[in-house]
Amino acid sequence: MYEKILSPIKVGNVDLKNRVIYLAMAKYLSTPDNFVTDRQIAYYAARAKGGAGLVIPGACIVDPLYPSTLPMQPGLYDDKFIPGLTRLVDAVHAAGAKIFLQPWHPGVTPYGCRPEDVKQVADWTIDEIHGLQKLFADACVRIKKSGADGVEFHIAHNYLPEQFAVPLFNKRTDEYGADTVENAMRFSTESLQGIRAACGDDFTIVVKINGTDLTPGGMTPERAAEASALLEKAGASMITVSAGGGLTDLTGMSSDGHREEGWKVPFAKTVKDSVTIPVAATGDIRHPEFAERILEEGLCDMVGIGRGLFAEPEWVNKLSAGREDEMRTCISCMSCFDYCPPGKSGCAVNPLAMRESENVSLSYDGGGRTVAVIGAGPAGLEAAVTLAERKFKPVVFESEVKIGGMERIGAIPDGKSKVNWHIDYYKKQIGRLGIDLRTGTRATLEDIQKLNPYAVLIATGSDPIFPRSVKGIDKPNVAMIRDVLDDFPDISGKEIVIVGAGLTGLETAATFAARKNKVTVIDMLPEPNYESLPVDHLLAIGYAKGSRVDVRMSHKLLAVEDAAVVSENTLTNESVNIPADMVVISMGARPNDSLYEEIRDKFERVIKIGDSSSVGKIMNAVQSGFDTAVNLE
Ligand SMILES: Cc1cc2nc3c(=O)[nH]c(=O)nc-3n(C[C@H](O)[C@H](O)[C@H](O)COP(=O)(O)O)c2cc1C
Ligand code: SF4
Repeated sequence: MYEKILSPIKVGNVDLKNRVIYLAMAKYLSTPDNFVTDRQIAYYAARAKGGAGLVIPGACIVDPLYPSTLPMQPGLYDDKFIPGLTRLVDAVHAAGAKIFLQPWHPGVTPYGCRPEDVKQVADWTIDEIHGLQKLFADACVRIKKSGADGVEFHIAHNYLPEQFAVPLFNKRTDEYGADTVENAMRFSTESLQGIRAACGDDFTIVVKINGTDLTPGGMTPERAAEASALLEKAGASMITVSAGGGLTDLTGMSSDGHREEGWKVPFAKTVKDSVTIPVAATGDIRHPEFAERILEEGLCDMVGIGRGLFAEPEWVNKLSAGREDEMRTCISCMSCFDYCPPGKSGCAVNPLAMRESENVSLSYDGGGRTVAVIGAGPAGLEAAVTLAERKFKPVVFESEVKIGGMERIGAIPDGKSKVNWHIDYYKKQIGRLGIDLRTGTRATLEDIQKLNPYAVLIATGSDPIFPRSVKGIDKPNVAMIRDVLDDFPDISGKEIVIVGAGLTGLETAATFAARKNKVTVIDMLPEPNYESLPVDHLLAIGYAKGSRVDVRMSHKLLAVEDAAVVSENTLTNESVNIPADMVVISMGARPNDSLYEEIRDKFERVIKIGDSSSVGKIMNAVQSGFDTAVNLE
């Protein structure tokens, strides 16, 4: 089983124990002045300990003064960073993996700066180009001094080297212009030669390139294949094939749920056909069977996995031990793009992501004590699984027939079906651990008392907010969003108004619009600050607008009529009538803690978790359930 994944391979001068790369995933973990931190080291060491053959930490800064440079990433622009980088390298080595670092320059891709403050490709003089190449070479010397096994030169994701590589960005007319692939790749091939000269023949240099930019004038599979042959000639020992970047809302690089597992693999195959060095495929590779198959079929030589290992650091260890059923599978929710403060989990399905330095471990001292868990949404399920691991005896009550709670509902809009992978994970754990699950059972005080539980965890979720005082709100054309999603109406050609431009409202709007309904979303809040919105919400706005949903902020719901909604534009105080065959209320939720209030004095330990404590995302529910279960004494 998984012979291919687990077989060794030599890349340049580096022997890798298996075919799995932890792809670069930059998190904001360095100090503001770019020193490596303990939290950062623990983050990467966990993926090495989990069995990946090669770990590539996220983008490392070569030019700190460049305006669009991402903050809080490791620095490579001064020798003062070498001791910290060495600690990182040593930790990854000690955990059993090899490590390449990724020097990075953003070029015109703006991070928190005005586009006019950055240089276009055509603006760089020849001397400045040579200066940039020297920055890369110097950075790689520091990488070598840190003890890392190699470097990954980053030509992907619309950053500087790729900007030289494609006509979309590169308007030069000299020998670095994009008229021929050879000229377009000159910035990169000369950089590789400069790195080779500075670091010596024995140092391993690999590259990451886009197989497509999904944008006219950008990288294409054919261009990537031609470029790859030149990169091999210039000294690259492996090519990792990615796609997209900032031009494509990040989803071209790290897809959300709208794309298939392994969608970038064909681009890797095109590159593989043009080179003799190993090629790594990337892109939503999640399941061991899938990875084994693409290796077996010769579509690639390595599998590059980013979020799959963010969600499940022990991916390789678990598959080699035949414990695939215990893997947490990334659901492509995009939450890992958001800033994650210390103490908070950075992943929807992995409560310990970004908390590796806390060294949380389970104590197996449950001793068969019964814990009643009321509610089988993500908080309740995560708590139950963790308690069962700890040898407690959780008994889970769920009033509905199916488990998953709001997560099940959240999987229904278009592009969200991968969320079901998380519910499937819990189903497998319930079976594996023999958890007593009582679906279709609304727990009463008597039910719980019969168990004589050591503790009761209340995971009863939330209640939707219903604007009771709005005139006409009881009309038959009004529905609550949860009911709509739970039994999604097969309608088209209707006029639908959704009240509430939160994530669920927008996703549902796009789903209705894709079925050829005319959808308007109203929300009394003003236009959001787009800089501060989480990535999933930004994408939902994009999908809604892209499907011609009419999103009207600063519009308050005043009344519902038989075939219309009356709203007030709060900026102009105008009253606006919007035709509506159906009105869907999606105004958020508040904790449902009525059971908690009812029984809190009846048992010694009654604890609210998940939405019943504080309404949040899957990530918050999972962390809440996990932490409560881990800390139960
Ligand atoms: C939070 C985050 C940060 C990333 N940072 C980098 C980076 O620093 N360098 C890079 O080459 N790719 C970066 N990527 C892209 C990943 O390396 C990978 O190519 C992409 O996510 C697709 O693989 P996956 O579906 O397995 O995650 C990042 C992706 C994510 C989600
Ligand atoms: S936060 Fe979401 S997208 Fe990121 S690794 Fe976790 S499940 Fe996957």
